[in-house]
Amino acid sequence: MVELSIELGSVLLLAFGLKGLAKIRTARSANGLAALALGLAVVGLLLQQGLGGWPWMLLGLGIGGGLGAVLALRVAMTSMPETVALFNGCGGMSSLLVAIGAVQLPTPLNLVGQVSVLVSVLVGSITFSGSLVAMGKLQEWLGTPGWTLRPQRHVVNILMAVACLACCVLVLKGMAVALIPLTVLSLLLGVGLTLPVGGADMPVVISLLNSYSGVAAAAAGFVVGSELLIVAGAMVGAAGLILTQVMCTAMNRSLTSVLFGGALGAGTSEASEAGGREEYTNVTSCSPEECALTLEAAERVIFVPGYGLAVAQAQHSLKELARLLEQHGIEVRYAIHPVAGRMPGHMNVLLAEADVPYDQLVEMDDINPDFPRTDVVIVLGANDVVNPRAKSDPSSPLYGMPVLEVDQARSVFVVKRSLGSGYAGIRNDLFELPQTSMVFGDAKQVLQSLLQELRSLGVGKVPAGAGSTR
Ligand code: TAP
Repeated sequence: MVELSIELGSVLLLAFGLKGLAKIRTARSANGLAALALGLAVVGLLLQQGLGGWPWMLLGLGIGGGLGAVLALRVAMTSMPETVALFNGCGGMSSLLVAIGAVQLPTPLNLVGQVSVLVSVLVGSITFSGSLVAMGKLQEWLGTPGWTLRPQRHVVNILMAVACLACCVLVLKGMAVALIPLTVLSLLLGVGLTLPVGGADMPVVISLLNSYSGVAAAAAGFVVGSELLIVAGAMVGAAGLILTQVMCTAMNRSLTSVLFGGALGAGTSEASEAGGREEYTNVTSCSPEECALTLEAAERVIFVPGYGLAVAQAQHSLKELARLLEQHGIEVRYAIHPVAGRMPGHMNVLLAEADVPYDQLVEMDDINPDFPRTDVVIVLGANDVVNPRAKSDPSSPLYGMPVLEVDQARSVFVVKRSLGSGYAGIRNDLFELPQTSMVFGDAKQVLQSLLQELRSLGVGKVPAGAGSTR
């Protein structure tokens, strides 16, 4: 009875945790709730197993928990996608091991148990090897070998999938030994499916693999008869699938083109190659000093953070600049595009790290109507998410992707190192608009120069509440 209440309690906490993750304000506490749910689940399991199983489980808890804690404390924010990939891989491997362990038991499995073992082995292995490849590619330990991009790869993958299904049939017919080739083939299939995907598309694949790890866990739940594992696995499976869909929609990409097409960002798309070649003829650039003068006279400023801000690790300088402007009586907000950066919530996490107040982070749909009454927009290492071509050029690979309408603002400063393209590899019409000035340089260095210039102009010297100098 106690174990059942603990199981129910952890399922409810997990559900509330997942729900809370949907909002920036509640995400941190929701993460704590989900961790508490999993801790409770472990306690429930210890109680269920009786004292005999405790030493092994505590050993596993110590090793796994210790490694997880060290990893979480040491990992840099920019390496989060790799870390998530590794965690997904561990989830897949656990389901695989649970299923293999279950078939070793003397009690024969019924049909549901057998099918669940097969699903756990198949999906768990694909998740495990696919996630390791995803991590390796994001860490740049692995590239995309040319042969993996040939169309014949689909034939090889299909043949491996068919062979996996054949092994499943053999297992169901009583040949348990077919589990060995099934495991090997599924591991290879995970590699075959993930290796050709471009590094920049990896976040979508990781989200999909996260969903797979949930499916594998739910199947493992059927194998060992754990309702908790079934519910938790189903939640992770569904959440991962929804997130994958949301990312694809926000990037204006179909899942099939991510998984089976030429990868954007890997330079294989024709559109991206054509776009990258086009030259800019009418670009205005300015120094941080000129930018500071315009900023000093502004009333409303919106910062648009993008991938380059994360690369430059300029979030703390940005926060400092925002504070200075606020001290000068200027309204400051941050426009957050759903796929800015390279992972879901990338900009939220980055700015939260610098303690930017949540209420200043405004989602794209809410901030777009405000651009026409904004004096200055500063685009920091963002490119695709502010590209007006997404609305005006039906031949553009970005066409249809909702973007931040910064071109509606009175003055736009784009801070980046060159006129180079972003992830989609296409030119950005924003750079040539009359109200746009490019401020070339690394985002952190430019922000620090801006801070210096503004301080030399006396900005920030007025105490808060004493009104602006303007
Ligand atoms: P991008 O379009 O990728 O542009 C980033 C820009 O940052 C580049 O043009 C680069 O220009 C600049 N940059 C790089 N390092 C910099 C530095 N140190 N200082 C200043 N600028 C620097 O970024 P975005 O606007 O954030 O758009 C994200 C893109 O990634 C979208 O196309 C999205 O679909 C895709 N994507 C997103 C996700 C998720 S879930 N967020 C997942 C996969 C793909 P320079 O080289 O000239 O400096």
